[in-house]
Amino acid sequence: MRIVTAVGELRATLDGARSTGGSIGFVPTMGALHDGHASLMRRASGECDVVVASIFVNPLQFGPTEDLAAYPRTPEHDRAVAEAAGVDVLFVPHAEEMYPEPMHTTVTVSGVSEPLEGRTRPTHFAGVATVVAKLFGLVGPCRAYFGEKDYQQLAVIRTMVRDLSLPVQVVGCATVREPDGLALSSRNAYLGPAERAAATVLHRALLAGRAAVEGGQRDPALVREIMADLIGAEPLAELDYAEVVRADTLQGVGPLAGELRLLAAARIGSTRLIDNLGVTA
Ligand code: PAJ
Repeated sequence: MRIVTAVGELRATLDGARSTGGSIGFVPTMGALHDGHASLMRRASGECDVVVASIFVNPLQFGPTEDLAAYPRTPEHDRAVAEAAGVDVLFVPHAEEMYPEPMHTTVTVSGVSEPLEGRTRPTHFAGVATVVAKLFGLVGPCRAYFGEKDYQQLAVIRTMVRDLSLPVQVVGCATVREPDGLALSSRNAYLGPAERAAATVLHRALLAGRAAVEGGQRDPALVREIMADLIGAEPLAELDYAEVVRADTLQGVGPLAGELRLLAAARIGSTRLIDNLGVTA
């Protein structure tokens, strides 16, 4: 595995692969890699000739009161995980090279960025879309791999790629979970033991919401209430939202019909966690 920090070196490395007709798969990350990230890398490795992963804690997508400075950084561990998962080129750019001063261009995806996470984190998805558009420009991948764990992010990226006709296929990958259902997340490292136990409430609430829809419940307000009540009953959890929406547009529906997504966010102690599940009505 080659580790590249300079943009020029990245381009030169990948031009070699492109000139021989090789397909390039890309997995963007913010590091603190876990098996969720590795599952994307392994899939890319099975489907592409050259796999590029990036590690960049993107300041643009953190709000002023969020955890940019505290975000976990585990560079040696990350190198070992990426290498074992089949990454050929690990791109670890410096912030100065990623964001020339002054920077005048931002990618904003309206509609799908606005509900759910967008209400609590109004500038987050513009930060994500802008850095992902830049990374696509730098790497030039044929396919890019994103986790369903961040379902709204996946929808934002799909919308951006469609609207701007970017020449990349976006591949959504299933959420990797702990045995007790907690979705793997770099932010799980913030949880103390009691919080770690309480954090399973997100997945349990989503399962209960899904069971209600599968049992014939078609009233979105009642499905929301089932999920919110479960999260509300956990003393260490503070609910942000629990919603059931259309899987493609993330807009509300009522009565429930078709492909749906259940999404929830809560603070467990001071750590904000998100999770989601699909269901068909
Ligand atoms: P990060 O949170 O590091 O996640 C990188 C990728 O790993 C995302 O596509 C995310 O959905 C996926 N992922 C995280 N946890 C997962 C899990 N438990 N199962 C499956 N996939 C999982 O998402 C970002 O970074 C950033 O916003 C980024 C896209 C890199 C832009 O800065």
